[in-house]
Amino acid sequence: MRSTRIVEMLEVTEAAALAAGRWMGKGDKHAADNAAVEAMRAAFNHVDISGRIVIGEGERDEAPMLYIGEEVGRGGEEIDIAVDPLEGTNLTAHGQPNSLAVLAFGPKGTLLHAPDTYMNKIAVGPAAADVVHIDASPTENVRAVAKALGREVEDIVVCVLDRERHADLIAEIRRAGARIRLISDGDVFGAVATAIEGTGIHLYLGIGAAPEGVLACAAMKCIGGCFMGRFAWRSPEERARAVEMGTCNIDGVLDMDCLVNTDEAAFIATGVTDGELLRGVKYFGQGARTHSIAMDNKTGTVRFIETVFRTGTERFWVRMD
Ligand code: FBP
Repeated sequence: MRSTRIVEMLEVTEAAALAAGRWMGKGDKHAADNAAVEAMRAAFNHVDISGRIVIGEGERDEAPMLYIGEEVGRGGEEIDIAVDPLEGTNLTAHGQPNSLAVLAFGPKGTLLHAPDTYMNKIAVGPAAADVVHIDASPTENVRAVAKALGREVEDIVVCVLDRERHADLIAEIRRAGARIRLISDGDVFGAVATAIEGTGIHLYLGIGAAPEGVLACAAMKCIGGCFMGRFAWRSPEERARAVEMGTCNIDGVLDMDCLVNTDEAAFIATGVTDGELLRGVKYFGQGARTHSIAMDNKTGTVRFIETVFRTGTERFWVRMD
């Protein structure tokens, strides 16, 4: 049953978040990431799927677990899986907001297969989904979103990764009159936040990691928003690797159907540190509490789920020794 599958996969992001959350503020992003990867990998062993990691921790020779092409699950429905066991490793290491354990899945062959590169991205929630375009200027996009939301441009907040490469983008958004939420990391949050009321973010723009683009696109499909991308190759070798992998639209616009080619995608994220979208993991004497979002395009549902884990009873219970 579909709801069973959603809960099974929810347990996978919960396991990763429970493990990573122990490393909050400890200043060690690699330890936090490793904990999340190991817990997520172990949790997949309990799920009745024949899953293939299409977006993961890297290529087989550089990632021991959850590498691109790895088979996970104990057998069953054939699905493609995109994972980021810890999205925002620095955010966790420094106890900053909005780090997440994330995954998306869809039927076999439906999620974009791409090397680890960069992607220029635009994301917006359902109310402005039809009025933006990756090839329009930031000014045009900001004005279009303001009009669609019935607001002044000054009332629009654009989320942008705080990077040198975005100096011109940031300057143009400011000239256009919109406000900016600069984030140090975590653009899956930035993109998804545009579709969730109350986050105070209306548009996401800028260049970030391509794998995170596929994850964010899955979420935007589930929630009726818009996501578009374009690869931003850092070297000719990266582009050549994409040709070898058979990646689609290598130099063109990556629309939602190119990135996530199904109406049966699901996106699940569990908060690791507190943020506007999700609360982080809370540990207490007898257990822990997680907060997650589970979006399912097949059933048209968006669930916010709070789970309490009692010490000693949970098979994914993870502690930091
Ligand atoms: P981590 O891999 O350390 O979790 O960082 C994630 C992230 O901030 C993404 O959200 C973003 O797309 C990307 O890194 C940006 O990459 P860069 O830091 O190279 O600009």
